[in-house]
Amino acid sequence: MKFEVITIFPELIDDYKKISIVARAIKKRLLQIKAFNLRDYTFDAHKTVDGRPYGGGAGMVLKADVLTRAIQGVLKKTTKKKEKTKVILLTPAGKVFSQTEAKKLAKNDRLIFISGRYEGFDERVSSLVDAEYSIGDYVLMGGELAALVMIETIARFVSGVVGKEESIQGESFSKDGKTSNLLEYPQYTRPEVLKIGKKTLRVPKVLLSGDHQKIKIWRADQALKKTKKVRPDLINKQW
Ligand code: ADE
Repeated sequence: MKFEVITIFPELIDDYKKISIVARAIKKRLLQIKAFNLRDYTFDAHKTVDGRPYGGGAGMVLKADVLTRAIQGVLKKTTKKKEKTKVILLTPAGKVFSQTEAKKLAKNDRLIFISGRYEGFDERVSSLVDAEYSIGDYVLMGGELAALVMIETIARFVSGVVGKEESIQGESFSKDGKTSNLLEYPQYTRPEVLKIGKKTLRVPKVLLSGDHQKIKIWRADQALKKTKKVRPDLINKQW
């Protein structure tokens, strides 16, 4: 799967590519991640990407003409085969991204993300994009981290990227495991007894019992309890 990011900070994306699972998946040709510098698509010697908003107001707005040139330029760089492509604008005013959205977006061959800085975009750029996404109800300095959050989440659905295929099943928010719509149950590994100061923390006995049926029931119960406590909004959520 191919991810492309249009940004004025391509180095943020390029650095991310060098790390761990993503770097390995790129090496195995399962993923491709490419950053494009928005300044390469400007029209003037100063490489201006933003302008003052019509009607006044604080901050600068990313220019629609430069963004259009960049999107069209990147779209034109297709490979031989016909790729199922979506152009995505990152904005706090977009649809909230989720695990369900990630799974749907993973059905594409190619996603082009547009990361903004400054106060926003000239509204006319919307006519060139297929979807607008926010990664949550807060405002970032720009869309680069949002693009990386989306890329990492979507990439995990690409076959072969995550070591064991089954390790993405039954995760928090997934609808496919027994813990559908729920947060993941607690996990433990060695040591069986952990001393922290005066505290002694033990692994729950049921996990040491070898009784798989009992473990399954315990995990489902823990997932439900945790979700009720931390995210009660998920219990009756329609996905
Ligand atoms: N740009 C600034 N804030 C953002 C957010 N929450 N999601 C996506 N893009 C953004």
